[in-house]
Amino acid sequence: MRWSVALIVGFVHLCASKPLQRRWDDLAEKHSWAEIPRGWAYISPAPADYKFDLRLGLKQNKIEDLIANLMETSNPTHPRYGQHLSKAEAESLVAPHPNSVAVVDAWLEHHGIAPEDVIHRSGGGDWVTVRVSVAQAERMLGTKYNVYNHPASSQQVVRAMSYSLPREIHSHVDVVAPTTYFGTLRSMRTTSFLQPNIKPIEDTAPAPDLTFNINAAVPSSCSTTITPACLRALYNTSTYVPSATGVNKLGVAGYLQQFANRADLQTFFNRFRTDAAGSSYTTVLVNGGGDNQANPGVEANLDIQYTTGISFPTPNIYYSTGGSPPFIPDSDTPTNTNEPYLDWLNFLLAQSTIPQVITTSYGENEQSVPHDYAIRVCDLFAQLGSVGTTVFFSSGDSGVGGSDCLTNDGTRTKLFQPAFPASCPFVTAVGGTTRVNPEIGVSFSGGGFSRYFLRPSYQSTAVSTFVTALGTKFAGLYNTTGRAYPDLAAQGNGFQVVIGGRVNSVGGTSASSPTVAGVFALLNDFRLAHGKPSLGFVNPLIYSTASTGFNDIVSGSNPGCGTTGFTAGKGWDPVTGLGTPDFLKLQTFV
Ligand SMILES: *[C@@H]1O[C@H](CO)[C@@H](O)[C@H](O)[C@H]1NC(C)=O
Ligand SMILES: *[C@@H]1O[C@H](CO)[C@@H](O)[C@H](O)[C@H]1NC(C)=O
Repeated sequence: MRWSVALIVGFVHLCASKPLQRRWDDLAEKHSWAEIPRGWAYISPAPADYKFDLRLGLKQNKIEDLIANLMETSNPTHPRYGQHLSKAEAESLVAPHPNSVAVVDAWLEHHGIAPEDVIHRSGGGDWVTVRVSVAQAERMLGTKYNVYNHPASSQQVVRAMSYSLPREIHSHVDVVAPTTYFGTLRSMRTTSFLQPNIKPIEDTAPAPDLTFNINAAVPSSCSTTITPACLRALYNTSTYVPSATGVNKLGVAGYLQQFANRADLQTFFNRFRTDAAGSSYTTVLVNGGGDNQANPGVEANLDIQYTTGISFPTPNIYYSTGGSPPFIPDSDTPTNTNEPYLDWLNFLLAQSTIPQVITTSYGENEQSVPHDYAIRVCDLFAQLGSVGTTVFFSSGDSGVGGSDCLTNDGTRTKLFQPAFPASCPFVTAVGGTTRVNPEIGVSFSGGGFSRYFLRPSYQSTAVSTFVTALGTKFAGLYNTTGRAYPDLAAQGNGFQVVIGGRVNSVGGTSASSPTVAGVFALLNDFRLAHGKPSLGFVNPLIYSTASTGFNDIVSGSNPGCGTTGFTAGKGWDPVTGLGTPDFLKLQTFV
């Protein structure tokens, strides 16, 4: 769709003059689950007087325009390439139509929620947060809220198996949360794990040679243990000296109970990146997030040590997003919604300046996220791209799918399980590799095809080539027309991470995403230093003019769901995407 055409597509005003009474009782289902989401168990009905914050995602009046604009400004051959929107411009495109606001306000008022009970409206007004009791929410949404337990994270939440909205509201409200999305800050999977079988570089061993020149062969030690020196040599960033450090920033998203440790970072620098010793990162606390320095997190330390290890001296920000304390049945204290993506993204989008690169190493099976909820979260990533931020997500650590791969639609069909948010077409999903000379796809590298999001045009050629070559193999197990991921890859095995003063080996696509984020932060530095805008949403660029800026990874596979998984090969593949970044080559394309 062309931008100018898109602007003309106006709001289709729905007949608003219905009889006033009864219209709010005419409910129609919005979303329901066939079974309690995996990993959760029913405990009890939620207490009627328990108060919580309910977030309403009002239909965004010009979201198609926002997306059409994003596709133009991220297309390197378009005259408007790089012309990112201002915060206010992006907000005006996600704003609801005044009629949507009016009808939702009337509905809220009917339920005794006056305008002053609205505790928050997002900048664009598309997210409205109201404080309600369970009894109130149950009447509004024609549902039953229950307490559920997630034994793996020992967390209890108040959620519903289904919810409805008045028929008249359906076209005005996309999603209500918390309702049927059971994910929480703690239950989302971090995509890193300790690797006790990979012997870490000993704390006392001499530091590896940090002075590779770009033509020197990458040391063979990088086949088993990865340090910043390995990555800087492999991806050709060693010789680049950042200079736009006054404006350029890299952000790391961290969640509840994952704290990056400043002393560990110094130990790490002293061992592996001596020129960065003495520098640090900034911590920003979101929604009651903590910064407990006595409790270093594996994921948090991995992320921050490798983003800074590659992008130094680019300023890095660690966002520590908190959440409500565990649900306490007899407490009168209102708790917030504890919705990881919404809390964090709404916080970020409300800032006057947002880091040009963001990396996040969390995710879950796409099918465990309600469709409407996933669409709205994905649109928030589009909004971030529109204002010039590149959003990286790790692609997951279960290949084509972990555990039994059964569907949750009641039929228990075995299907490959795509991961969300990696499956959102507005994020850049990063898979994993291992070994050097050559690098190969690592077996846990998450990859596949979305069942929620159609294949975006930017990847249609690259992905159809793969799908055509695959023929009937795995037919029915994956969605041939879905958004395919990962988009690219980086090392994901044997990362040397300092945790509590000791070097550990850590693996996962959690390691790959910060690595790529570090490389792209340097590319942004290069652009900003030349007076150009940040790269913003990079997928249209990397699948077109910059596609040869990657080292194509041609072997390795990602088994899962009882299959051998996809196989990496020439060109794009669902194990390693387009390949691993070559900074020096990419520099010539940006
Ligand atoms: C990047 O480094 C590799 C060695 O790791 C080298 O083979 C390649 O030519 C380099 N790329 C460029 C553009 O110099
Ligand atoms: C593939 O994904 C698209 C986009 O969400 C969807 O419309 C379609 O139903 C999916 N097909 C299958 C077989 O899952």
